[in-house]
Amino acid sequence: MKVNFTETVLRDANQSLIATRMPFSDFEAILETLDHAGYYSLECWGGATFDSCLRYLSEDPWERLRKIKAKVKNTKLQMLLRGQNILGYKHYPDDVVRKFVAHAAQGGIDIFRIFDALNDFRNIEVALDETLKQGAHAQGCICYTTSPIHNLDKYAAMVKQLESMGVHSICIKDMAGIMGPQEAYDLIKAIKSSVKLPVFLHTHSTTGLAPMTYVKAIEAGCDGIDTAISSFSGGTSQPSTESLNYALKQMGHETDLNEKVLKEINDFFKPLKAEYVSSGLLDPFVMGTETDALSYQIPGGMLSNLISQLKAQDAIDRLNDVLAETPKVRADMGYPPLVTPMSQMVGVQATINVLTGERYKNVTNEVKSYLRGEYGKAPGEINSDLIRQVLDDEKPITTRYADTLEPAFEKAKKELKLARNDEDVLSYIAFPQIAEKFFNEREERESRTVTYTISKKEE
Ligand code: CO
Repeated sequence: MKVNFTETVLRDANQSLIATRMPFSDFEAILETLDHAGYYSLECWGGATFDSCLRYLSEDPWERLRKIKAKVKNTKLQMLLRGQNILGYKHYPDDVVRKFVAHAAQGGIDIFRIFDALNDFRNIEVALDETLKQGAHAQGCICYTTSPIHNLDKYAAMVKQLESMGVHSICIKDMAGIMGPQEAYDLIKAIKSSVKLPVFLHTHSTTGLAPMTYVKAIEAGCDGIDTAISSFSGGTSQPSTESLNYALKQMGHETDLNEKVLKEINDFFKPLKAEYVSSGLLDPFVMGTETDALSYQIPGGMLSNLISQLKAQDAIDRLNDVLAETPKVRADMGYPPLVTPMSQMVGVQATINVLTGERYKNVTNEVKSYLRGEYGKAPGEINSDLIRQVLDDEKPITTRYADTLEPAFEKAKKELKLARNDEDVLSYIAFPQIAEKFFNEREERESRTVTYTISKKEE
């Protein structure tokens, strides 16, 4: 059976290991080689890349996409899209979501991997529909989690629903790297007997399970996996492309990857990695294996957040209490997958419950919005006492939250003086302050260049 590889070095590996700080100029020279390695797709946009380009790298993310597209002519470019949240954590009106997807497709994205943190598919409906309208590949995503209410039947029903929405393929997203090999095997089998669509698995090496998980997933019929070129693999990133390719070929699977080209790619990234380590951008610690997530059943990132929160409050001695409270809060909230922003929401509330000594005496605004239904529908039942206590007589909404939002694109376009095109307006809607700062800097930079050119001519 053929196994497809999605290379994550430009997006998830970059995000997981060095907080997405790799500037375009650092990887520009390897793009054509990446294009010839035989990858199914190259994940290169979405997630934090957009934010990081504007905030730290003084790069226009749209321009970055076009420049990648100009060099990557054969391999499909892939992005990660948070459905109605686009790239952030709040819901945007439908006109903005459609405009964003349309421009991303025109800019060069071939595959849209679309997810919602709560697996409430009403929140990916519009992004999905626009992807289909643009003629691009729509990959419907499920955020993987374990809980008393999540089981194989539930996941099989979810993929059926995605199929009926018209997706071209399915992705199972194990953002915390907690899926074990047997779970993967059973899950892929269940999905494969429920739908005929290609299935891709996304996980992280954090807990050390990932390569085993991939191998068992493929044994069960999984069609594609996400990996990172070896110098940017492991730890919080994905397992290594070369190792998986080697192992899978040995086991009799087919891949389209060319080992010689993979070596070239890795030889290119090796010295970059050394540079990032010596500048302190890459902390070698994140490339290690961290198994605490398995015993606590919470993602590694969430655990380190809890620890730093408690240290900041001089209350690290309460860690065990908070770890005991966390699954209770999650149960009260109807077992949301512990992915951003839910992981923060649950963690902060559990900490408050412990430190105030009274459960839900103080409730964060985020939890209030969640209970109002503004993030979507919880996977399970939310504790009704909690709803009553926090919302009083207010009724949570049961419709899609974005239905309550006014169109925003044209209004933002009128307001924004520095926008040169619709893409600028979209950057601004997604990250208002950062985009405005970026536009100002761009004006300044360019006016400097113009003055320089004129004075050169006068000489
Ligand atoms: Co990931």
